[in-house]
Amino acid sequence: MPLPKAELHLHIEGTLEPELAFELAARNGVTLPYADTDELRKAYDFEDLQSFLNLYYELMAVLRTEQDFADLANAYLARAAAQGVRHAEIFFDPQAHLARGVSMGTVVEGLWRALGSSEENHGISTRLILCFLRDESAESALRTLDAARPYLDRITGVGLDSAEVGHPPVKFREVYEAAAALGLRRVAHAGEEGPPAYITEALDALGVERVDHGLRCMEDPALVERLVRERIPLTLCPLSNVRLRTVDTLADHPLPAMLDAGLVCTVNSDDPAYFGGYAGDNFAAVHHTLGLTEDRLRELARNSFLASFLEDDEERRAR
Ligand code: ADE
Ligand code: ZN
Repeated sequence: MPLPKAELHLHIEGTLEPELAFELAARNGVTLPYADTDELRKAYDFEDLQSFLNLYYELMAVLRTEQDFADLANAYLARAAAQGVRHAEIFFDPQAHLARGVSMGTVVEGLWRALGSSEENHGISTRLILCFLRDESAESALRTLDAARPYLDRITGVGLDSAEVGHPPVKFREVYEAAAALGLRRVAHAGEEGPPAYITEALDALGVERVDHGLRCMEDPALVERLVRERIPLTLCPLSNVRLRTVDTLADHPLPAMLDAGLVCTVNSDDPAYFGGYAGDNFAAVHHTLGLTEDRLRELARNSFLASFLEDDEERRAR
């Protein structure tokens, strides 16, 4: 019986397994530049975040209809349930779909076909977090938030993802202020490849409640002290960090030192179809390779519910 946990850092487009990619390609008449799933898997040898993002955006071409997004989300929820996930806060990247002529409604309503019945079908409560692509303009982010207005009853928060270096959080101050005024919760990727200063900026300029990754905070002791004092949760993704070469090997991952420092850490899967594992696989990896004790794993699981956007009563039921 896997440890019950919440997943707080999961890009739904990053759950597209090669088999489903080919199935959707056939359904939609899209030709992928790979002969089969084996050849596609061979492309999963990444040098850094950008080399992964290139493939991630390329494969999205197969996602065209509401049913495609529903199938994608249902496949993720089934895998997550088998690994003990009871609550999932799911990122999606609307700008990557709008740019291909797929509407906000197609994406959100499609995802909702799966999320709306997830508790009954998979035993997983869900939240949706709309991410802005930080390598697009601030104006594009504002237009995207505008396009999401009819769907705000389905969307809990906003996030910031894609290529980090050279795209500091402050660029998105205005759209985060607008999101806050709409009652949306706020998170942002920071300190994955980018410097610790981006983490500080995400807190101060964007008002984020959680930091996605935040790994590089360890280079700045004063920042670590602040994150501990303010109890800002970090959504770490250990297998992702190895695959994107943010750490050399899993054995070098700073998670044990981060927990020892008193940081509120959670363990998540990021883009599990690409990085070799879902939430439970990430827990198993840090257990076996980093030697985290059962007590530490329970702390990580407890943190995941406490750091979630579940209301108090829901949180109690989930645990
Ligand atoms: N989009 C999908 N996965 C991402 C990651 N790990 N970092 C930034 N943007 C992403
Ligand atoms: Zn991510």
